[in-house]
Amino acid sequence: MIIDTHCHLNDKRFENDLEAVIQRAFDADVKGMIIPGADPSELPRAVEIAEKYDNIYFAVGVHPYDKEAFDLSYLEEHITHPKCIAVGECGLDYFRLPKEEAQKEADKAAQKEIFRKQIDLAKRYKKPLIVHIREASKDSLDILIEENAREVGGVLHCYNASPILLELDAHGFYYGIGGVVTFKNAKKLVEILPQIPQNKLLIETDAPYLTPHPHRGERNEPFYTTLVAQKMAEILQIDRKTLENIVLENTRRLFKAFF
Ligand code: NI
Repeated sequence: MIIDTHCHLNDKRFENDLEAVIQRAFDADVKGMIIPGADPSELPRAVEIAEKYDNIYFAVGVHPYDKEAFDLSYLEEHITHPKCIAVGECGLDYFRLPKEEAQKEADKAAQKEIFRKQIDLAKRYKKPLIVHIREASKDSLDILIEENAREVGGVLHCYNASPILLELDAHGFYYGIGGVVTFKNAKKLVEILPQIPQNKLLIETDAPYLTPHPHRGERNEPFYTTLVAQKMAEILQIDRKTLENIVLENTRRLFKAFF
């Protein structure tokens, strides 16, 4: 059994066939999902989906791309919901910064400020963090350590597979492995995967984004975690069932959810 620990089921691209998407996953033994926060305007839809299905949970948080919409009290209104199990996705993303130097620095500062506020929120409500890091490994690492995020721990999206992020293992962090691991140009992640302690591995899609090979370019969905699990098992040279069991235990330990 696989849990997709990161899929944006509240995204508009699932509007017309969400039930079929979820059923396709369930039929393939992908039995649970976590919907991370991103744009707060999509949070009510995440709550609605989580209330409808036992094994679907959500997180409250604001993605760095949506930082203008950050509203702490709005997140606090939803964090005590029984299906809310994490804070995020929050973090730093330097991939799309403004070109002009002063604007670039202002954007980074604004991202850092709401990242720190969300780490504080997670600590106050004792929820693990879902952390998005893109081309910002060093700054993210520093902030997570400075803010003592180890009190709650969390999961990192492994976009860049930067080796320095392995340090966060010692701070209670897990590593979400997604479709990127199946890409032909994913050499760095393939190299780093065996260095991650197996009791820190999670599986995710980031659907509707980052669709695994051979479906790149199509919409991603939780069913495709099966391709991620298969590829991880190959790289780690363990059988897929063993891998799935390890990852399931990790998922339950981090999110304390009833999957
Ligand atoms: Ni995401």
